[in-house]
Amino acid sequence: MSESVNRPIVITVTNRKGGVGKTATVVNTGAGLAVNGHRVLLVDLDPSQASLTLSLIGHMPPEHKGIISGFLEEGTLLEDIVYETPTPNLSILPSEKDYGGKEAFLDMALSGEIGRESFLKNLLDSDFARDHFDFVLIDTGPELSLLTINALNASDFFVVPTNTDILSLVGLADTFKIADKVKKINPKLKSLGSLITKLDRRFKDTAQVSQYLKEQFGQEIFDTTISVNSKFRALPKIQKTIFEMERKSEKGHRDYNNFAQELVRRVDEIGVTP
Ligand SMILES: Nc1ncnc2c1ncn2[C@@H]1O[C@H](COP(=O)(O)OP(=O)(O)OP(=O)(O)O)[C@@H](O)[C@H]1O
Ligand SMILES: [Mg+2]
Repeated sequence: MSESVNRPIVITVTNRKGGVGKTATVVNTGAGLAVNGHRVLLVDLDPSQASLTLSLIGHMPPEHKGIISGFLEEGTLLEDIVYETPTPNLSILPSEKDYGGKEAFLDMALSGEIGRESFLKNLLDSDFARDHFDFVLIDTGPELSLLTINALNASDFFVVPTNTDILSLVGLADTFKIADKVKKINPKLKSLGSLITKLDRRFKDTAQVSQYLKEQFGQEIFDTTISVNSKFRALPKIQKTIFEMERKSEKGHRDYNNFAQELVRRVDEIGVTP
């Protein structure tokens, strides 16, 4: 891979629509990149749900700090709040599930602060990140919050997972509008593309919507699609990635492995703005 910058490439996974597969995509794309030899950090920037944290490490020991401490406790360094996962090359910056109730309102806690859009950017701008990671993938919640803006402001690229129903299409269009606004404070931000997830070819409108997406967004749609697969529902309960649950030949493993590889190719083709 041609790395033009001496720092990790930061990618936000976002869509204003809930439940489209953002968290599943962060977990399993991260694992796919890690399996392919890249050093990856996953960031849980959805503290009100903390789904990424629960999916990968379950409930954290209470003495472990995460993203909320990173934002609110002055002097907290990235290395204080990053943990290894059982998958080699895959680390996580988790979210505290219980921070005295503040986990649901981190957004509000930041809103009165100077530099409120740059907390994550500043945290990631460290020798620890430069020395340890090739990619950072950020999971965001469905609401448009200051946290999502923090994610996009810290990123080189964003990826929009989408399903093939009409409400997901509305979410997709809204998400691109938000990213356009964030480009005013982060001009290097670029779209890497949209990923069709939970693709279910049994529904009549699936082919129609897929076609519509390709016409409307053209190149923006990844060639890889992620098929609907009931195993993804089981994974968070056992804190495993699809790579630990399925063999190479099985569809979930294949889908996210293909996607991780396509993502790296696109990063190379589009290029990172230093
Ligand atoms: N390819 C898939 N096939 C079937 N189910 C899936 C697939 N991907 C994700 N899911 C399931 O769909 C649900 C929503 O997925 P996920 O939590 O990843 O979405 P999300 O966009 O992160 O949601 P939120 O907006 O609430 O953060 C979960 O139960 C998850 O296990
Ligand atoms: Mg989620």
